[in-house]
Amino acid sequence: MRTPITLPVERPGPFEPPPELAALPPVVRMAYPDGHLGWLVTGHAAARVVLADPRFSARQELRHAPIRMVRLGDVRAPSRPGMFPSMDPPGHTRYRRLLTGWFTTRRIAALEPRIAEIARERLDLLAGAGPPADLVADYALPIPSLVICEILGVPYTDHAFFQEQAGLMVSLEHSVERAREAMGALYAYLGDLARHQRARPGDDLLGALARDGDLTDEELANIALILLVAGHETTASMISLGVLALLRHPAELARLRADPALAAPAVEELLRYLTILHLGAPSRAALEDVELEGELIRAGETVTLALPVVNRDPAEFPGPGRLRLDRPEAGRHLAFGHGVHLCLGHHLARTELRVAYTALFARFPSLRLAIPPGEVRVRAASITLGLHALPVTWDTPA
Ligand code: HEM
Repeated sequence: MRTPITLPVERPGPFEPPPELAALPPVVRMAYPDGHLGWLVTGHAAARVVLADPRFSARQELRHAPIRMVRLGDVRAPSRPGMFPSMDPPGHTRYRRLLTGWFTTRRIAALEPRIAEIARERLDLLAGAGPPADLVADYALPIPSLVICEILGVPYTDHAFFQEQAGLMVSLEHSVERAREAMGALYAYLGDLARHQRARPGDDLLGALARDGDLTDEELANIALILLVAGHETTASMISLGVLALLRHPAELARLRADPALAAPAVEELLRYLTILHLGAPSRAALEDVELEGELIRAGETVTLALPVVNRDPAEFPGPGRLRLDRPEAGRHLAFGHGVHLCLGHHLARTELRVAYTALFARFPSLRLAIPPGEVRVRAASITLGLHALPVTWDTPA
């Protein structure tokens, strides 16, 4: 029998998932840090089954942590009220129903002009202060942060605080205790905000929940925590890594510049190619015995998906290691998950990415890295792959 795999496995670079994982069969044994013997899924078909089949549970108290990390709650303890990503229906459905109306295609299409305006304002600031500039701090982080703050009703003036805490929560470079502290600080901050909204509700998402929903302050604060963290960390990483990927593939970038219709498919291909949710998530626990790709997953065993490898399954994506912006099957990626937990913010994220890439490359046609590519600091020890900084330059006047 093959030795069970353990996570994390080092990746050679930001664009290459670990080759050891890519070489594995679709479903293999994995040893979890607490001694549990569970599974790792690397095949696309098997991953879809795990995400869609109700015999696999997202309940936190049933799952073993695939890497030493803090999740949005205590490990193997029931989810705190409002923490719906680690719940199953019907508890999950109740919260999700309160939120879906805020993230529909129509709602996000109506928000697009505001997203474009935010991007333009950031580009004006960049042009005024640079070159050079750090695209992470000055572009990739502010756009999704400002957008999610406006949707939720969180004051953007507190961005330094919540961006730092959110970064610590997903990072594996610090101790689990430090990540817990960060989550506690953010929870306390959002609890105050929830109480404030209760007293004087605004016409934003948190105000509407405070006014109309039958939610407790704890539920409200936890929902705010999830949306605030999920709503900016992920998209910010995709913006900066996507820009780096395009700069490193000049022929693809030239095609994108020449054909604006390529922007939407390009976003799908970048989501597939980069798959930023790269370490130890998503994971599920089997509620009963399930046969998957010839392996018997026993009730109680945890299954973790290696999404970056799943999204490079050659059976689904021919020549998977190549970035091809017009790849016809790119939209079949699972970068946003699948099934009842499909990313709540996927329309929003797609729109933010399309706007952010298009506006940036239109404004700075000569945009390029300000340092050698090998010196770009990749944030790999984190649940979401990202960059610490992306120094860029351009020819003036821009
Ligand atoms: C769930 C990825 C942006 C909110 C998920 C899941 C993935 C994902 C893979 C499924 C996790 C699972 O099945 O266990 C991403 C990526 C993003 C992104 C790659 C950016 C490119 C956003 C944004 C929001 C958001 C902007 C803001 C609302 C959520 C929420 C869930 C979720 C609330 C939990 C859904 C549920 O359990 O029902 N995301 N996400 N995400 N995402 Fe995103």
